Amino acid sequence: MRYIGNKEKILKEIEEVIVNNKLDKKCKSFFDAFSGTSTVGEFFKDRFKIIANDNLYMSYVISQAKLNTPDGKYKNLGVDPFEYFNSSNEIAEGFIYKNYSPGGSQRKYFCKENAGKIDYIRWKIEEWKQKQLITDEEYYFLIASLLESISKVANVAGVYGAYLKDWDPRAVKPMKYIPVQITNECARTKNIVYNKKIEDLIENVEGDILYLDPPYTKNQYSVQYHLLETIAKYDNPEIKGKTGARDTSSQTSDFSKDGKVHIEFEKIIAKAKFKYIIVSYSTDGIMSKEFIESVLKRYGKEETYQFKKFTYKKYLNTKAKKDGEHFEYIFYIEKKDDNKINYYSPLNYMGGKSEMMDFLKENMPKKFDRFVDLFAGGFNVGVNMDVNELIYNDCNFKVKELIQMFRDIDTFDLYKYIINTIKKYKLQKEDKEAYVNARKDYNHPEPPIRDPRLLYVLVLYGFQQQIRFNSSLEYNNPVGQSGFNDKILEKIVSFSRRLKEKNITFMSEDFEQLEKYIAKDTFFYCDPPYLITLGSYNDGKRGFNGWNEENEIRLVNFLDKIDKVKGKFMLSNVIEHKGKENKILKKWLQEHKNYRKIEYKGKARGRKEVIIVNYNKGDLND
Ligand SMILES: C[S@@+](CC[C@H](N)C(=O)[O-])C[C@H]1O[C@@H](n2cnc3c(N)ncnc32)[C@H](O)[C@@H]1O
Repeated sequence: MRYIGNKEKILKEIEEVIVNNKLDKKCKSFFDAFSGTSTVGEFFKDRFKIIANDNLYMSYVISQAKLNTPDGKYKNLGVDPFEYFNSSNEIAEGFIYKNYSPGGSQRKYFCKENAGKIDYIRWKIEEWKQKQLITDEEYYFLIASLLESISKVANVAGVYGAYLKDWDPRAVKPMKYIPVQITNECARTKNIVYNKKIEDLIENVEGDILYLDPPYTKNQYSVQYHLLETIAKYDNPEIKGKTGARDTSSQTSDFSKDGKVHIEFEKIIAKAKFKYIIVSYSTDGIMSKEFIESVLKRYGKEETYQFKKFTYKKYLNTKAKKDGEHFEYIFYIEKKDDNKINYYSPLNYMGGKSEMMDFLKENMPKKFDRFVDLFAGGFNVGVNMDVNELIYNDCNFKVKELIQMFRDIDTFDLYKYIINTIKKYKLQKEDKEAYVNARKDYNHPEPPIRDPRLLYVLVLYGFQQQIRFNSSLEYNNPVGQSGFNDKILEKIVSFSRRLKEKNITFMSEDFEQLEKYIAKDTFFYCDPPYLITLGSYNDGKRGFNGWNEENEIRLVNFLDKIDKVKGKFMLSNVIEHKGKENKILKKWLQEHKNYRKIEYKGKARGRKEVIIVNYNKGDLND
């Protein structure tokens, strides 16, 4: 059967990825998560146990036929159903006859005779099933064969979203009932087939290889194939409109919607319990290569990432051939262990700890129930903690508001807002006028909305993405040299999902107010402004209080309090920099022999970062 996005033509390319990475030697199972006509699963069924899934029931039926093929003997039935139907002229004036042929409607999907034959066959298959004359495998195989036979005589141009105005000569020839062609006749094993939205299934399946071939355009398969779905289900649905379509709202795929596809794709890759992931996509797709790559590299081992871009000429129409724009993509990656996955804040926050994350994680205690990110800023550290309770604190309430927004606003709504705002103001990198217009609206005093979503867009287009305010808390950062792109989108999507899944309390207090959280099972991570390398956010001139020696002393006293109750802390800082030294910290370290200073070996922004902790090596993470 012709099926949009069918992968028959690129099976060899997929096979190459499998063989080159020796997956055929290492793996037992293969999950075709958007199986369509199960071309891919069928091709590999002699090598792996196949798990197939698709949102459409017609696809479920076809996958069953190809992956759990019956022996073709129809022992209980006692006749060969293909001979039986092909030698009979019986028709039934059923649902298809009445609604999709001139037999009872204006619609010209089938000629009267073929529509009646379809009804008769479909009804008979159901009767045999009810009388237990056929097995489940035989049942699916017979329905799939009917769908296959129908596709040869349907008066459509490939899909069922519309029928042709005039009768195609094929459509008026009598339909022959033909069996589904099985191209891979290997020993039949019990393969598994699901009929679910992948987003509802992904957390409940596991295995070796995950193959993703999502829809890549805005066309909904449920609309394009509504009639085959109805014949497969044979549930006499309510239908409407010129094409007599069933209600497909429950089957609408988020993978065909801009913004939603980004959110769902990220989630699938994040939640997949598979060692290897292969993705098929196309240049015509809604998601960009950059977006897909960013997602795969977040959850996969970067060094295993592979990408192939190719064209298969046979499929191209003349226009596409000329402009050469249509390419197929195959991505491959091996998944990381969960503890190696890092999330990064979509705020490019000064002093952000993203590049040091592995180092920080390696030096954290083994176990704690509560994690306090005392100077959380962009929340690069807190977001990576797997604990029962997370506390975000930053005295800069504007930053806190931004981070909290990623948790509280629906990610799709935020995406739409960002896209619409960029369009509304015609924002572009380095375009001062457009930027200033948007900034004026943000700062507008009447009514003082100060929408954090607008602030976020401004930050993206602002100078070095700084979050700067004047003393009346008007955002005053000038325009910058960057803007929104797909890498940032990937950060927004992964970060927002992560925040939504965690139990986080957001606070914007002076750090001493968090004394009430000091306890034995609480771990405090402290990344204060550094006394000797002032960032622009701690110079006291940005609408917020600065950082000085008095604060530094208050902080070390706070940390001592944690130590007293056998709580644990980690302090990030810089003790020596360009001839300056932080005497307070030096002295404090000398006075507390149980505090350990650990140097970060890499260079973060050209300075020597250290951490100071109050626990032993034995308490470290594995
Ligand atoms: C590109 S086609 C797959 C083609 C298939 N590889 C083949 O060779 O026939 C994409 C499939 O994804 C299915 N689909 C769309 N959204 C889905 C979802 N959320 N979960 C599972 N399947 C979905 C569609 O019904 C369609 O069959």
